Amino acid sequence: MMENDLFLAAREAMAKAHAPYSKFPVGAAIRAEDGKIYTGANIENLSFPEGWCAETTAISHMVMAGQRKIMEVAVIAEKLALCPPCGGCRQRLAEFSGASTRIYLCDETGVKKTLALSDLLPHSFETEILG
Ligand code: THU
Repeated sequence: MMENDLFLAAREAMAKAHAPYSKFPVGAAIRAEDGKIYTGANIENLSFPEGWCAETTAISHMVMAGQRKIMEVAVIAEKLALCPPCGGCRQRLAEFSGASTRIYLCDETGVKKTLALSDLLPHSFETEILG
């Protein structure tokens, strides 16, 4: 399976989660246009709203590597069979994705469900009027 490396990277990233408050580690891995994989884990904070998601960490790594296009994404959460990205992360993923960008929802054995970004975020906010 082509996306197996993405699943493995997301699982490895999940082991780095800083989730002492929720005890809900999440890992994410993005394949960018350069073919490289950028990973992330959720990083929580004692001031709860200041924490952020695994997908957000992965997007940050991708952007700081100079990449701007997400080809595919894998997400895994130790305690949930399938962990779809939260609403805020769907919008952040949309910033760098196309409607058909694939999102792989994984459990500890591999990819269990494949969705397109447009499945996760239909009728998304789009306008050219800003700026
Ligand atoms: N979390 C993610 O990292 N990604 C998601 O898409 C869903 C939620 C994290 C945030 C928080 O650290 C923990 O899971 C519990 O909500």
